[in-house]
Amino acid sequence: MKKILVMGAGSAIAEATARVFAERGDALFLVGRKADVLESMCADLRVRGAKGVGMHVMDANQFEDHEAMLNMAESALGGLDVVLVAHGTLGDQKACEASAALTLQELSTNGVSVVMLLTRIAARFEQRRAGTIVVISSVAGDRGRQSNYVYGSAKALVTAFTSGLRQRLYPLGVPVITIKPGFVDTPMTAAFPKGPLWAKPQQIAAGIVGAVDRGSASVLYLPSFWRLIMLMIRCIPESVFRRLKL
Ligand SMILES: NC(=O)c1ccc[n+]([C@@H]2O[C@H](COP(=O)([O-])OP(=O)(O)OC[C@H]3O[C@@H](n4cnc5c(N)ncnc54)[C@H](OP(=O)(O)O)[C@@H]3O)[C@@H](O)[C@H]2O)c1
Repeated sequence: MKKILVMGAGSAIAEATARVFAERGDALFLVGRKADVLESMCADLRVRGAKGVGMHVMDANQFEDHEAMLNMAESALGGLDVVLVAHGTLGDQKACEASAALTLQELSTNGVSVVMLLTRIAARFEQRRAGTIVVISSVAGDRGRQSNYVYGSAKALVTAFTSGLRQRLYPLGVPVITIKPGFVDTPMTAAFPKGPLWAKPQQIAAGIVGAVDRGSASVLYLPSFWRLIMLMIRCIPESVFRRLKL
């Protein structure tokens, strides 16, 4: 039985993942902004077989509350084996271009708040030489595109930060897993037309649970064909890339 903290638990990807853990009899502590969403998730996860379920309402940008939230999760679960960091917002790129304040907010939610949380979690797991850290970044962090480079640059921060953290914690037996989903059909992408490259949250959840079980300290593109797509996109010379309308 694993003791699992889920940050941004209301996310469609996080919820699908929490359901898999619950059905295996793991214990979960859910953190998010909406009490009613967390309450109904708790009830659902209990019915699915979770050994224990707790919750806490917190905005990820309330950095000063992170430490207390982690203490709460540990005492509710009686320890902590896995942390899944899943919160995020796909902000309006055009609105960010017109507002430095909005840009800062998007960078904070998708990048800085993740780094702040991971810094605290890493210190705990490093001391114990135990624990697994899973963070949802994005293929958008692999190369900035004009259509979403504020979101993409926040995810690039998360990708680079988790890369360094993985090296630091690997010798201690603490896997850091960076998840890079491609297009996933969730409320975040509700307005986008869907096509053959789109995945369901359940597919991403299966990949996340598999990586946790393998203790795979690595970067996981989900679905895996995105590794090839992003390799090709990264190979496009800047002299060509700067002219593309992506
Ligand atoms: N969907 C995709 O195509 C895709 C692709 C690559 C990566 N991702 C990443 O996957 C993760 C999960 O996204 P999703 O697709 O499952 O989207 P989602 O269903 O829209 O979930 C996003 C979640 O993040 C929470 N959140 C946003 N800002 C927060 C804050 N300041 N504090 C706490 N929670 C906050 C939201 O809570 P509220 O309900 O309170 O707003 C919501 O529960 C995100 O990190 C996203 O960037 C998604």
